[in-house]
Amino acid sequence: MAGAAGAALLLAACGGGDDNGGGGGGGTTMRLALNQTEDHPSYVALDNFGTALEENADGWGIEVYPNETLGAQAEALQLVSDGSVDMAIVSGTQLENLNDDFVTFNLPRVFDDVEHQMNVIHDPEITGDLYASLEESNGFTVLGGFTQGARSIYTTEGPVETPEDLAGMDTRVQESDLHIAMAEALGGNGTPMAYGELYTGLQSGVVDAAENNEVSYFTQRHYEVAPHWSYTNHLVGLDYLIINTDLLESISEEDRAAFDEAWTAAYEEHTQLWADATQEAIDGATEGGATFTEVDDAAFAEPLEALADEFITTDSQRELYDAARAAAE
Ligand code: GCU
Repeated sequence: MAGAAGAALLLAACGGGDDNGGGGGGGTTMRLALNQTEDHPSYVALDNFGTALEENADGWGIEVYPNETLGAQAEALQLVSDGSVDMAIVSGTQLENLNDDFVTFNLPRVFDDVEHQMNVIHDPEITGDLYASLEESNGFTVLGGFTQGARSIYTTEGPVETPEDLAGMDTRVQESDLHIAMAEALGGNGTPMAYGELYTGLQSGVVDAAENNEVSYFTQRHYEVAPHWSYTNHLVGLDYLIINTDLLESISEEDRAAFDEAWTAAYEEHTQLWADATQEAIDGATEGGATFTEVDDAAFAEPLEALADEFITTDSQRELYDAARAAAE
């Protein structure tokens, strides 16, 4: 509630609505919703995306609103749909709830590593239809994405070394049926919750565990309340950049070329920043008292493999899955 009310106020303060063309054919400064802090690689890369646009496209720019200032991802997605916010970074789990083809790329083990993931998700032959699939129903287009890196489990009491160790622990996952099942495969009880509520959730004992990458673990300061990190590496997660389709279509051909070039540079920069940010996060969390533990990989592998059979149920999901796996080989 507070988030949505805050977003409404902020949007009113910004003047609301788009004013494309007001300056004589030029663009506008687009509002982009992000749920990360300003020292997260996603903020850095998106901010630079905006700078490149300002330099190379006629009147276009980007103002990134970090820390869920425009709402948590589910709200931000709605705002992009109705055009009151222009762009947002949303996790793949959010899109799974609108088109179940997106489930495929939210599966554990579909991507071997960040490089494989980036190759697949920026290959228009694989993702072209998928990325346009929400234009008519939801009014936004997917432009591509950023990696979430490898995600692992962390707990308030721990560490976890086998699925049995996670038994009985309420484990926060993103709002996704697949990820609830994934928490169960890892041994815990899946509890969906918005990202911004998780620090308090862990601190107050509403949940006992969560799963994420080291960068989020550190930048959200979750290590302060859940200091036991266990390297389950169960999933290479994925964030998407979405944009309101009417706005995207209002960009002139020439500016669109500059836009695409700047976006490509942004996701490439993000991938480059990721490895260093991960190491810095490990160092910072360790300094803050966190411990990082290896787990029994084999014990987690089999239940995670089984999720693909359970959740890939349609031909189009199978096609995406096969294309992704073929790109790994
Ligand atoms: C990562 C990801 C976010 C997501 C978050 C979460 O930080 O980049 O998009 O919201 O995980 O677990 O909710």
